Amino acid sequence: MSWSIEKFESDNALVQKLSASIAAALRDGVKSRGSASLAVSGGNTPKPLFEALSNIDLPWEKVVITLVDERWVDSQHPDSNARLVAEHLLQHRAAAARFVPLKTSAAEPFGAEPDVERRLQDVPMPFDVVVLGMGDDGHTASFFPGAAELRTALQPEEGRLCCAVHPPSAPHNRMTLTLPAITSTKHLVLHVVGRKKWQVLQRAIQDGRTEEMPIRAVLHQMSVLLDIYYAAE
Ligand code: 6PG
Repeated sequence: MSWSIEKFESDNALVQKLSASIAAALRDGVKSRGSASLAVSGGNTPKPLFEALSNIDLPWEKVVITLVDERWVDSQHPDSNARLVAEHLLQHRAAAARFVPLKTSAAEPFGAEPDVERRLQDVPMPFDVVVLGMGDDGHTASFFPGAAELRTALQPEEGRLCCAVHPPSAPHNRMTLTLPAITSTKHLVLHVVGRKKWQVLQRAIQDGRTEEMPIRAVLHQMSVLLDIYYAAE
């Protein structure tokens, strides 16, 4: 088993603990190698976490932030994860952090991987912290059930950090970090809120096919302990 679960009474309590723990890891990263890196997910779950983090006193100018995955839309689009990060995380004290976006000016993510990988060279690796979310269908990052690119994203050619994905069940093509890139981190976190997602997680923990619930790939990998932070509401 390479995961552990911590349950909280509320997302509020969860966010307090998780933001402090991320801040401590980033502080350690800056202390030990002069800079630190954080990869975050999009969606609705992380907003309160972003807001809490943005107010923490850290040497943010030495922190590089990027995304675990991005929807291939303009940075002003309401579904853009870069926009979410700009509005909720790169604020207050965290406004001094450097953000590395995954979206380029290319019309499609397919073929844009080499450009995105060049950008990612500027991100201190391994990451200090990666924060994942999970969808009701058992996807995480942009590892979607039934996606033609799922295998490539989970088992890419050596050294490949990102992979374009067409999600069969969600809007917008995406760029996702690959599984080896996501697990190349000192701390890996899964942030899950809501009873419905708890049921999904319970199912994912049972034996079954990764293609059906790709979160299993993260639960089963042995590179890094997955810290699951769960709150029912
Ligand atoms: C994205 C994500 C994705 C997300 C889950 C959970 O951009 O869509 O990074 O993997 O973490 O879909 O999303 P919610 O927090 O909105 O439920």
